[in-house]
Amino acid sequence: METSTTLLQFEKKEETFEIKSEIKIVEKEEIIDKFETDKQVLNIVSQIKNIGKLLITEYKISEEESYKIAFYSFLKKISQKQNQIISISEYDNILSERNFNFHFNIKHFLQCPNFLEKIYSKSIPIGYKKNRGQFFTPIDIAEFMANIGLKDNPKKVLDPALGGGIFISTLNHITNNLSFTTVEKDPLCLAMAKINLSRYGNLNLEYKNMDFLDFNNSQYDLIIANPPYVRFHDIENRDETISKIETEIDSKLSRLINYYALFFFKAKNLLKEGGKLIFITPSEFLNVNYGTSVKEYFKKNYEIDSIITFENGALVFEDNLSTACITVLTRKNNPDKNKKVKLIKLSKWIGKNDLIKFYNEKQENYSDENISLTLLKQGELNYKEKWLKYFNKNEKFESCKHNLIKLSDIAFVNRGIATGANNYFLFSNSKFKEWNLEEDYFKPVIAKSNFCKFIDFTNEDFENLIFQDKSSHLLYCFSEPSQNLKKFIEHGEKQNLHKRYLTSKRTPWYSMEKRDVAPIWAGVFSRDGVKFILNKTNCLNLTTFHAIYPNFNDENKLLFLVAFLNSEHCKELIKREMRSYGGGLNKFEPKDLENIPVPDINNVSQQKIDEIASLFEDYLKKFRTKQDISSQKMELENEFEQILNA
Ligand SMILES: C[S@@+](CC[C@H](N)C(=O)[O-])C[C@H]1O[C@@H](n2cnc3c(N)ncnc32)[C@H](O)[C@@H]1O
Repeated sequence: METSTTLLQFEKKEETFEIKSEIKIVEKEEIIDKFETDKQVLNIVSQIKNIGKLLITEYKISEEESYKIAFYSFLKKISQKQNQIISISEYDNILSERNFNFHFNIKHFLQCPNFLEKIYSKSIPIGYKKNRGQFFTPIDIAEFMANIGLKDNPKKVLDPALGGGIFISTLNHITNNLSFTTVEKDPLCLAMAKINLSRYGNLNLEYKNMDFLDFNNSQYDLIIANPPYVRFHDIENRDETISKIETEIDSKLSRLINYYALFFFKAKNLLKEGGKLIFITPSEFLNVNYGTSVKEYFKKNYEIDSIITFENGALVFEDNLSTACITVLTRKNNPDKNKKVKLIKLSKWIGKNDLIKFYNEKQENYSDENISLTLLKQGELNYKEKWLKYFNKNEKFESCKHNLIKLSDIAFVNRGIATGANNYFLFSNSKFKEWNLEEDYFKPVIAKSNFCKFIDFTNEDFENLIFQDKSSHLLYCFSEPSQNLKKFIEHGEKQNLHKRYLTSKRTPWYSMEKRDVAPIWAGVFSRDGVKFILNKTNCLNLTTFHAIYPNFNDENKLLFLVAFLNSEHCKELIKREMRSYGGGLNKFEPKDLENIPVPDINNVSQQKIDEIASLFEDYLKKFRTKQDISSQKMELENEFEQILNA
């Protein structure tokens, strides 16, 4: 191997500057490894910086412009070797007075598809790159995205934020029959891409040097990009830019929206029906307020194939972003709400090949320390909610799956009684006296969820309701009515109650849906998790609660089950089954409750069940008398933790 120290020469018209730099030039045929390439990158960067400094003093131009011109002069050198014409006229004017020589081995450029991006990133001032969102995609990530993009055999591909052209390189590396359109606003990046892509000979490729937000063209099978990540207050013409997109999508957007989000909106009309969009962006839109409009737009115009988030530990961008995500969408005029969305979370980088395999092959919920997959129906993703939480849903479930069964394995869930006319069928003490009706025609009932103040509902609680003259009894007549009851029935008919939808379906109309007393009631609506009530009375329940009927008859097992259902562990597991009605209000159907994962009670020792039952009774007493329950709560949570992870 030959090594030599080379000279970097600056030739000005009459004078010659000599700057010493150490570059090792390797034999042509030798395979150049990453270490050598990185060394070469640093060396070229130092040459560019030296030229930049010289331009600052000689031409009194800004630091930013000088380094850009210096980088451009390096591009010019490669362009000569590649026979690729590039031109930025104001830079060409300055350089026409100069001839800067660079010493480098072209093989590094030829063998490393993002060689120029590496040099650009290290030569151009951070402020300039930040204001334009110029952070480049690592090759492994670009290859992963290209792999997903090629699955549907696209023909026409658009990269609306070209940069150095890494997506075109990787796509073309895998298949060479694509037609590309590319958009790049910055002439210097465009020049870099032209040289980069010149290594592939005759590509079917069109370059547009313009703002993508003004781009209107034909439609594409695939739009793949790393759109610029720029905070809007760093952007000139913010209002004008946002308004332009608002008009296009006919909807209002937050002024805090990030620039990259506009690329999501803009891309829709440029995609064919069934075409794919694959973007890598920060993941913040999944959780912040301005992201609501983006997520709503996804749900209306696309089927969401997958979202892959990268946590801090899983790289992604060397320069600035700590969290990133890849969004994969399919353009659909009528998206299928039942379409399964793959939510993948990477805590560690598992390597490109393993990630591609995981993405293509895993079809059910999965979780290990590096990666997790949660499958949810598109209809289950509520655009008003923060989406990052959806990615964690199956973790708890996965780690303790072997100890869990469904509630439906040990209980039956039914909705409460729908009377069809609560005011008529429900009786308070005074109404009871007023009509002088026989008690036999009635059943005690819980009519409203807020009548249950505690976690258990006792006879004393019920008597209190009667004392307060609340609705406490339900007309539950399945025998011949007495004279007094007949008068009450006529009173109902005069109000046409027998013609209402529910009553008209019953025979006679004043009879009731038959139900048994349920030992557990579950709230139908909730803001912060379902409330499960241990019913210690003979009361039936109306639709305000669902009724849970365990298939065992054991007091302590019942206490164990209610204790678990009200635990924080269970709350987390329940989130999987939630239907959200916006504003944080959730509605649960009996089927949702039957799907709740609960510990396999038959695998828990009787001793443990008795211990937990007694702990829970203590908890109920203290809760009722407003004593401190924190230690009982913690003990119960610990017990369930152990049972689940046994
Ligand atoms: C995050 S970089 C991505 C570059 C490259 N595709 C990659 O993944 O490495 C975004 C690129 O978009 C360019 N850009 C910024 N605003 C743009 C706009 N409005 N229209 C088109 N390109 C833009 C930037 O100059 C930058 O090159």
